[in-house]
Amino acid sequence: MEPLVTALRAISEPTRLRILSLLSRGELTVSELVNVLGQSQPRVSRHIKLLASAGIVERLPEGTWVFYRLADQGLGQQVAQSVISLFSKQEQVLARDLERLESVKHARIHAADTYFAEVAKDWAQIRSLHLSEGSVEAALCAAAGNRQFKSMLDIGTGTGRMLEVFGAQTDRATGIDLSHAMLNLARLNLEKSDLPHCSVRHSDLYNLPFETAKFDLITIHQVLHYLDEPKTALAEAARALAPGGLMAIVDFAPHQLEFLREQHAHRRLGFTDGEVESWMRTAGLGKITHTALRPDTSETHTNHLTVKIWTGERALASESSSQSKALEESET
Ligand SMILES: C[S@@+](CC[C@H](N)C(=O)[O-])C[C@H]1O[C@@H](n2cnc3c(N)ncnc32)[C@H](O)[C@@H]1O
Repeated sequence: MEPLVTALRAISEPTRLRILSLLSRGELTVSELVNVLGQSQPRVSRHIKLLASAGIVERLPEGTWVFYRLADQGLGQQVAQSVISLFSKQEQVLARDLERLESVKHARIHAADTYFAEVAKDWAQIRSLHLSEGSVEAALCAAAGNRQFKSMLDIGTGTGRMLEVFGAQTDRATGIDLSHAMLNLARLNLEKSDLPHCSVRHSDLYNLPFETAKFDLITIHQVLHYLDEPKTALAEAARALAPGGLMAIVDFAPHQLEFLREQHAHRRLGFTDGEVESWMRTAGLGKITHTALRPDTSETHTNHLTVKIWTGERALASESSSQSKALEESET
């Protein structure tokens, strides 16, 4: 009984219930919670600390930031989910919090969008600051294999570089991005590279305007570290992946370069293999691989970041039915 009593005690306070409601919408930092709740940082930190020590909330330190999220397993998760299911949509305080959360998120998206609009024309140069573009692209092509794809989607396409890299290997390719400035450059680049079967469109990666299982290659190149909800983004991308299709994600391994947050709109300082691979598995992908591209310290790339490539595949219908058959047999 003791852990249950501790968890219920930790939760039974109005501000902590509000925190629970906010974290049910995704990971947040203390300063974001402070902004929404309108209480002092020490007060909010104390509430969070109590929720964390009761196992309701998990603490994820990363550089000088700490993200908080609801526990995703154990008693803490069960208690949190049960209480959240009791929240009423009519509850004014919670509804106002969610409105304020939307405007905090909106301000962040606006800041990132302004950043991308500003850097769009220098993006190719900024991208290669970390590791030579050529090495990353060669490794990515090797990971995708020497095959022809029917339909490719590049998520967060920016200036459309991935469409250029895979253009010859796809019958048809689409890039999506939220930044009009980036999309304008992508259109010019595709025209210059004479890739009439590649196009770009304005869209939010959390809500892709495509039917399920449409693409047999999906790339997400240096996008996840800008996002609030990389796990949700991967799930939406996986929805659009056809059976037998390949998803390739390129991003940084964990690092400590805080200035990338301050000057380059990064939200996350890289990702561990465990984290990305569990998101991919949850999104229904298998045959997961990862490759690390370590910086060549003799080169002039000053930041020395390790670039990672993760790939995963959606099982073919025949594979998934034989897998579930095998599972059924092992269970009986
Ligand atoms: C770092 S750039 C990478 C561009 C390109 N993939 C590359 O590597 O050159 C990240 C891109 O993600 C886009 N982006 C960020 N959030 C997005 C969202 N919610 N929906 C669509 N695109 C988004 C940005 O506008 C930006 O162009």
